[in-house]
Amino acid sequence: MPQPLVRFAEVSKSYYRGAEEIHALRNVTLTIEEGSFIVITGPSGSGKSTLLHVAASLDMPNKGTVFFREEDIFSFTNREQARFRRQNLGFVFQFFNLIPTLNAIQNTSLPLLLDGVSKRNADARAEELLSSLGMEDRLQHKPHEMSGGQMQRVAVARALIANPALILADEPTGNLDSESGAEVLALLKKAAKDHGAAVALVTHDTEAAEIGDRRISIQDGRVMSSVLTS
Ligand SMILES: Nc1ncnc2c1ncn2[C@@H]1O[C@H](COP(=O)(O)OP(=O)(O)OP(=O)(O)O)[C@@H](O)[C@H]1O
Ligand SMILES: [Mg+2]
Repeated sequence: MPQPLVRFAEVSKSYYRGAEEIHALRNVTLTIEEGSFIVITGPSGSGKSTLLHVAASLDMPNKGTVFFREEDIFSFTNREQARFRRQNLGFVFQFFNLIPTLNAIQNTSLPLLLDGVSKRNADARAEELLSSLGMEDRLQHKPHEMSGGQMQRVAVARALIANPALILADEPTGNLDSESGAEVLALLKKAAKDHGAAVALVTHDTEAAEIGDRRISIQDGRVMSSVLTS
């Protein structure tokens, strides 16, 4: 039986701009199972990024509960939330968010160094992971010496290096041509499976939407459909 990793129970999130209330999420109930790959699609402004932020405890809902392995993540203190993110989550962004002065190994190993792993061990793990993502010839390259697809592969390696249970990826192919985008997604899917990590991927790319186990479509903050695709 697949176990729930993340569970949203009737979650609503509004933003207020003056007197205006913007409903970013409306009564969202969904489950991300351990090790599963879910793809979230929907028009611009429909609440996709908000959903990822709430799942990461970066943004607090006005109503409802978010569970991670059946623990209410908004019952955590700020310190506990920070630890929860460090130990369990990996992030991949549209604009890569790599550190320009660091090479591929250094960008990838950084989360481990911050966690107190020795440089030698951290670098060895980074090298292994980067190589599994086809980056063995670019280990010493800095971001400006890489293509977009290569930068995103480094970002995938960095997201996975601490063995997270969940990777949150917001439009990771938004800045890539369709070929390198498809390549990055295939690598992300395989690497996540190999590490037993679940993935929540937000995308506008209709082809990318096919690669998940489940596809969730949201509109105006509401989950319109949630379909198994594999
Ligand atoms: N910090 C904020 N303050 C006020 N309104 C916000 C804030 N963040 C998001 N919103 C609003 O909430 C709604 C959902 O935003 P969200 O960023 O989740 O959309 P999205 O589906 O990720 O869109 P896109 O595809 O353009 O990235 C939008 O109407 C947006 O304007
Ligand atoms: Mg967004």
